[in-house]
Amino acid sequence: MFVRERLWAMIDESIVKAVIEQTDIVRLIGEYVQLKKRGRRLVGLCPFHHEKTASFYVTPERGLFKCFGCGVGGSAASFLMQIERLSFPEAIERLADRLGITIKRTDGPGPASTRYREAKSLVGVMQVAQAYFLASILGPEGVMCREYARGRGISDAMASSFGLGYAPDSWDGIVGALSSSGASLSDAEKLGLVGKNDRGYYARFRERLMFPVHSLQGEIIAFGGRYLRSGDVAKYINSPESDIYTKGEHLYGLYQAKSHILREKCVILVEGNVDAVMMHGHGFCHTVASMGTALTPKQAELLFRQTRRVFLMYDSDAAGQKAMSRALGVLLKQDFEAILAVELPRGDDPDSFLRAYGKEGMQTLLEGAQPLARWCVEKACESILTLPIELRKARYSELGELLMQFTNPRVRRHYLEESARLLGLDITSTEEMLRLKGLEDGPREVVRVAETGGIEYEVTRLLLRSAERYETFMQCQGLDLVRDPALRSLLLCYAGVENKSSTYEVMAHLDEGQINLYEQLVCSDFEIDDSEIERWYEGAMAALTNRWASQEIQRLGQELEASLKKNDAERVQQIMGMHTKLIELMQKGQMARKFVWGSEQS
Ligand code: UTP
Ligand code: MN
Repeated sequence: MFVRERLWAMIDESIVKAVIEQTDIVRLIGEYVQLKKRGRRLVGLCPFHHEKTASFYVTPERGLFKCFGCGVGGSAASFLMQIERLSFPEAIERLADRLGITIKRTDGPGPASTRYREAKSLVGVMQVAQAYFLASILGPEGVMCREYARGRGISDAMASSFGLGYAPDSWDGIVGALSSSGASLSDAEKLGLVGKNDRGYYARFRERLMFPVHSLQGEIIAFGGRYLRSGDVAKYINSPESDIYTKGEHLYGLYQAKSHILREKCVILVEGNVDAVMMHGHGFCHTVASMGTALTPKQAELLFRQTRRVFLMYDSDAAGQKAMSRALGVLLKQDFEAILAVELPRGDDPDSFLRAYGKEGMQTLLEGAQPLARWCVEKACESILTLPIELRKARYSELGELLMQFTNPRVRRHYLEESARLLGLDITSTEEMLRLKGLEDGPREVVRVAETGGIEYEVTRLLLRSAERYETFMQCQGLDLVRDPALRSLLLCYAGVENKSSTYEVMAHLDEGQINLYEQLVCSDFEIDDSEIERWYEGAMAALTNRWASQEIQRLGQELEASLKKNDAERVQQIMGMHTKLIELMQKGQMARKFVWGSEQS
C-alpha cells in the first residue's frame, strides 16, 4: 500500500517520511481509541470493526498499528486515511499540520488534497462565525441572550466552556463579519450560516442562542441555534450536512465530556443541548446529547469507543420514552457492559429536574438506574396490559421485535420469561403470541485473521527487532533454517533496507503482502519475557538448526546411496565429511552455525 501511495503523493518524499516518523502514533490513535499499555505496545478495541476483546495493537517504537481481528494495519498516515476516509496526501497534510510542518508540493496544488483543504477552509469559516457569535453574546446586543441564558441557569462559566454564542437579530451582521475577515460567503452558504436570495446573502441564524458542535478534535463543525423566544418559528435551527458535518455521526458535548467519560468510566446520554450543558454545570461532565435525532449506529459506536457503560436519560414525555426503547436496539449492537435507563419523573427533562432537585436529586436518580433492556420490556408489557384484549395484537408484535433485538439467546430467553411473568401468561403461549423466530440464532462473530505462530515466526520477530542480530543471522546462512516461504522472502528483502530502524524505509522495500506480514510480526504479542529473550533466541536457533540438520542428514543419505551406485568415491568422501559435521552440530545443539554449506556441497 505504502509504495503505491507514494507514487501519486506528489509531496516531497523526504517530507512524507519526516511527517510519518515524527508523528506520535500513540497520541494520534489515542484520540480515537482508548489504548492500554501492554508491554512495549498498546492495545485497544479496533475502530475499524466491531469486537469485544481487544485485538488492535499499536507499536510506538515502529510507528505501526495492526488489528489482528480484521487485518487493518499500517502507519499513522494509513490510520488517518482509514478512520477519516482521506487520501494519502490529505492524511500527510493533516499530520504535517499537527506537527506544524508546512508542506511544499512538488507539483503545485493538485486535486488530490482539495477535499482536505476545503474542509480546513470550512472549519476556518466556522471559526469566523464563532468569533462573531461570541462577540455578540458579550456585546451590548447580547443583553437579551445573556439574560435568557442566566434565566435558564446557564452560568457564564458553563457558557464559555461550551462556547455558547449569540446570533443577533440582524439579517446581515454575520455577512459583514464573514466578508471582512476574508471568509468565503459561498462556503458560509454551504455551511448553512447564510442563505442567499435575489438581494444577496443573509443570516440564517437570528435571535438565537448558539450551541457550537465540536468534532472530537475540537473543531467547530456545526451549530445548533435555539430561538430565544417562543413563537411560530422553529425552536432550533441546525447546520445542514456539509463536507465537515454529517448528521447522526456526532454527539453534542462529546468534545467537552471526553476526558470526564474516561475518568468516570461511563457516559450519560441526554436528548437536549440545554440538558447536556446543565448536566455539566451540575458536575455531571460525562454527559453528551444526541441532538434530538434517534440514536444512530454511528453515535453508538462513537460512545463505545469512549466507554463501556451508558446511562440513557431521555425526556419523560412519550417521544422521549419511545426514543429510549429504540436506542436499545442500536446500543445492543455494541458490546457495552451496561446499558442503563434513568427514568425522570413524569413531565421532567434533565434540565428541569436539575433545577428542581439539584445535584443530589440527580445523583439519587442515577443510582436508581436499571438495565435499559428490563426497562423496555416492562414498558412494553405495561402498554400491552393497559389495552383491551382485542387491541393488543400490534403491541405484542412490538414486544416481539424488542425481544428479537437480544442476539444473545440466553438474554432473550430471560426476557421472554420476564415478559410471560409480567403478562400473566405461560412461556409457550407468550412465545406463540410474539411469534418469535430464530430463537436459537446466536450472534455472528467476525472472522479472525489467523495469527501466525511458531518458532520461525518468533525468531523472525526477534530479527526484525535488532539489526545486529539480523546481520549475524544472515551471515550464518540463517535463511536456510526458515521453511516458511513468506518469512524467507521478507527476511531476504529486509536485507536491502539500509536504515532498518526506519519503518518508512522498510515499507518502501516490501510489497503489499510482505508489508502485511511485517506489520503482524512487529505488532503481535511477545510471549517471551524481555529478560528471557537472549536465552530463548539461542534455544530457538538450536531447535531450528537441529531441524535443518536432521533434514540435511536425510538428504545426504539419499545422495550417498546414489553416489555409491555411481562409484563416485570423491563425492562419497565429501558426504561422509558433511555427515560427521552435521552429527556433531546436532550433538552440541549449538546455534553458531558458522559454516557456509553451499561451498562444501558443490
Ligand atoms: P428539546 O426540545 O428537548 O430541546 O430537543 P432542549 O435543547 O432541551 O431545549 P429546551 O429545554 O426546550 O429549551 C432536544 C434536542 O433536539 C434538537 C436539539 O438538538 C435539541 O437540543 N431539536 C429540537 C432540533 O434539532 N430541532 C427542534 O426544533 C427541536
Ligand atoms: Mn429540553
